[in-house]
Parts: sequence; structure tokens; C-alpha cells
Amino acid sequence: MKRLLVTGSSGTIGTALSEALIKSGFEVIGVDRRKNIWSPAVQKRTIILDLLKPQLFKKLPPRVDLVIHLAAHARVYNLVKEPRLALENIATAFNVLEWARTHHVPRFLFASNSASKMSGEAMTHAYRQSYGMKTVIVRFSNVYGRYDESDRFVPLVTKKLLARQPITIFGKDKELDFTYIDDCVAGLLQLVKKFDTMNGRTFNLSSGETFRLIDVAKILGKLLGIKAVIKTAANRPGEVLKYCGDISPARRLFGFSPKFSLEKGMTAAAEWYKKLYK
Ligand SMILES: NC(=O)c1ccc[n+]([C@@H]2O[C@H](COP(=O)([O-])OP(=O)(O)OC[C@H]3O[C@@H](n4cnc5c(N)ncnc54)[C@H](O)[C@@H]3O)[C@@H](O)[C@H]2O)c1
Repeated sequence: MKRLLVTGSSGTIGTALSEALIKSGFEVIGVDRRKNIWSPAVQKRTIILDLLKPQLFKKLPPRVDLVIHLAAHARVYNLVKEPRLALENIATAFNVLEWARTHHVPRFLFASNSASKMSGEAMTHAYRQSYGMKTVIVRFSNVYGRYDESDRFVPLVTKKLLARQPITIFGKDKELDFTYIDDCVAGLLQLVKKFDTMNGRTFNLSSGETFRLIDVAKILGKLLGIKAVIKTAANRPGEVLKYCGDISPARRLFGFSPKFSLEKGMTAAAEWYKKLYK
């Protein structure tokens, strides 16, 4: 396996993963509708394309060994506010699967995406069963670290802290599984290398531990040297109150082993944001 097509390559995971794949000697072709602003190496390998428009897919290379499909509207709450975005995720996944099928791509890795998760996963299974494509599904959880300036929890709290603004936590006791970006990427790399023996499987790639959002905000404040002023509000519709990924199948089958404790990962993330916003 040599030539990989990474959709969503300008996003947080897409950028870090593409960099790691290039470093490991894979030929990476990125696809995204926006330019990569973080990595010149990934930017120069990225085809700018809206995956909702299959008529533009002729820009894609004729032959690839594996598609890693990361492109999506990734923020759950935005999908709850605007369900059309979930439908767009489904259409995007369908378009990429169809392109893969008609171009005889033998392997497809699907990053399951929250509210539109079940449809994407079901389509991925259907393509494996109907067309003999090898497929693997991965589920991430609150990936944080570099290359993320979005309104996800960690970048948002960081921005609020640096602006000396109060932080609102929706769901006082909310506890989630936070994954440092390098652990997520390391797991994906291990999986790519063992892809053919993992056909048909679904894996959680996360830390396998939960942390209270309130504590995460406090840790970030401590690392940035700013006291966090925290307000709490009711949990928002569509968001879970507690989530912890079971990573034992990934551990057992391909040696997935997260290396970043929350403290270590948050320290690295805080350093990155300090440089970004200095
Ligand atoms: N980051 C997380 O914590 C997390 C958690 C669970 C699932 N996921 C899933 O993992 C994947 C990657 O997440 P991320 O954090 O890197 O997200 P991201 O928002 O940083 O990146 C997604 C990228 O996809 C691109 N994209 C979206 N629709 C597109 C389209 N129609 N055509 C071309 N490009 C398109 C966007 O421009 C963006 O660059 C997503 O599918 C997301 O739902 C992420």
C-alpha cells in the first residue's frame, strides 16, 4: 500500500495525519474544500475540491490504494442546529464511496462523524459487503492539540482564557474522553499499516478515560497562568453527558496505546496556543 487519498486534509486530524503519513513514506494526496493553513507539505499535496460536487471528481488521481475519509462538518452542535449539515455529511461520504467503488479503490477507512455516524457507518458496511472493498471504521473522541482554531471545547476555552473572559460549561458534570492529537494519529498509522487484517472492524481511537469538562478548563487555566472563571449551564440538546471509548479492541488487535496523559497533552496544546496567539 503506497498511495493514500486523505479527505478533509486541511482539518485538524487530516493535517496531522497527512504529515505523519508523509514522514512514514506514504504518497499522500489530500482533498479539501479549503486550503491547508498549517502545513506547507500538506498544502502542496492538497487538491481543492468540494466533495459534495461529484462532477468535480475528475481532479482526483486515477488510482489510489486507500481512501481515508475524514471530510465532514465535524461539530455536533452545529449539526443539531442545522440538520441539513448532517445530510451533507452523508452525501459527502456517499460521493467518496461511489468514487472509490467506480475507481476500484480496494480499501476505505471511514472516520465516523457524530450525528451522521450511523448512516456513514452503514454505507461503509454496505460497500464492503456488496462490492468487496476492504473497510475499517474509526471513532474519535474530543481530539485536541495543534492545528485546531475552531470553537471546539479546548480551543474555545483557550481563547476565552487568553481574552480573560468567563467560560460557560454546558452540563456541570459532563465527563468526556479527550484524546491528544498525536495519540489519535499514532493509532491511525498503526491501523493503516495493518489495514488488510482489520477488514470489517470498527475501533474507538481515544484515550479510554473520562475527564470532567470543568477540570479540563481549570487545568488549561493553570497551564496558561490564568485563573479560569467558570459558569455552568444546562447540557445542550444532542450532546452526551458522559462518554468513554472502549479502546481494548484497538489495544489488542493493533497495539494502540495512548501515550499522552491529560496533563501532558494539555501542556503540549497550551504551548502551541501560546505560540499561535502570542
Ligand atoms: N476532532 C474530533 O474530536 C472528532 C471527534 C469525532 C469524530 N471526528 C471526525 O473526524 C473527522 C476529522 O475531524 P477534524 O477534527 O479533523 O475536523 P475538521 O473540521 O478540523 O476537518 C474537517 C475537514 O473536512 C473538510 N470538508 C468538510 N466537508 C467537505 C466537503 N464537502 N468537501 C471537501 N472538504 C470538506 C473541511 O473543510 C475541513 O477541513 C471528521 O469526520 C469528524 O467528524 C472528529
